[in-house]
Amino acid sequence: MYEQALKLRKIMEQKKSPTELNKNVRVYCVTSGKGGVGKTNLSVNLGLAFQNQGKQVLLIDADLGLANIDVVTGLYPKYNLSHILTTGKSIQDIILKGPRGISILPGASGFYELANLSNTQLEILIESFKRISGNFDIIIIDTSAGISKSVLSFIQSSDEIIVVTTPEPSAVTDAYALIKVAHRHCNKIHLIVNKTDNYKEAQFTMEKLTKAAKKFLNVDIDYLGFVLEDKSIHRANMEQVPFLIKYPQGLASKCLINITSKLLFGEQSPIESTVTVDGWFKRLITLIKSNVGAMQ
Ligand SMILES: Nc1ncnc2c1ncn2[C@@H]1O[C@H](COP(=O)(O)OP(=O)(O)OP(=O)(O)O)[C@@H](O)[C@H]1O
Ligand SMILES: [Mg+2]
Repeated sequence: MYEQALKLRKIMEQKKSPTELNKNVRVYCVTSGKGGVGKTNLSVNLGLAFQNQGKQVLLIDADLGLANIDVVTGLYPKYNLSHILTTGKSIQDIILKGPRGISILPGASGFYELANLSNTQLEILIESFKRISGNFDIIIIDTSAGISKSVLSFIQSSDEIIVVTTPEPSAVTDAYALIKVAHRHCNKIHLIVNKTDNYKEAQFTMEKLTKAAKKFLNVDIDYLGFVLEDKSIHRANMEQVPFLIKYPQGLASKCLINITSKLLFGEQSPIESTVTVDGWFKRLITLIKSNVGAMQ
């Protein structure tokens, strides 16, 4: 036990960052009530669109399901956060460099084990995040569907959430149920209507959801726009290339670029981000610990 603690301390000493940069990031959590509505595809391509605008993006895979970021990008991670503790890997070894220079942090199960780590282990991880603190402008978190305690922690840790729904009534009902829980825990809720046949259908879906949220929850939802049903997304997925790269002139890409502009330059001024990458990570640990504790 004592030897293990010494070993951990040694890793921690090696990982102490020489310079601590204090750059703030905007944190978006992409989430949905129902599964399969397009979160992973939108997260990856939104990240790429931000990169195209000169922003440095850290995409975090927080989905425990099967259809993960690796499937969409064709990048398969060898390591995750736990390897920082077990094999002394650095966080830079774990982060994958994706297309257009986007950075991908394969988290998955690693995140959910945070609640069980010792304070020394957590300090090592926090130090690791501090090392990359100056590198990013935006964090995008791709979560699993639904409002499990782990998803709730990611939602609470973010400044803004992006709720994805399709026009299907069951997806809209589940999106409402998610918003009902999430609105108490985040500053801003954005909405994307995905896989829609046309503008009118998307508008109808958006109105149904935003009116119910206003009436019953007194919540204002910021509608970012829609992404059309586009067969090229399926083809891009089959080739494991993000659709924005494979079909930059496709319908879905055009819709997504509009959404990105709205997030970056929209009338609703962006929330001032007040958190650094390691600050966000510390916040996440506290939330995961308290949510696990609260629901045991
Ligand atoms: N705009 C679209 N047009 C056509 N197909 C789409 C569109 N968006 C996503 N898809 C398809 O929907 C399926 C689910 O997409 P994706 O994996 O991104 O959803 P998800 O919400 O992340 O799912 P999960 O809840 O399982 O994590 C994929 O087969 C993808 O090709
Ligand atoms: Mg997914």
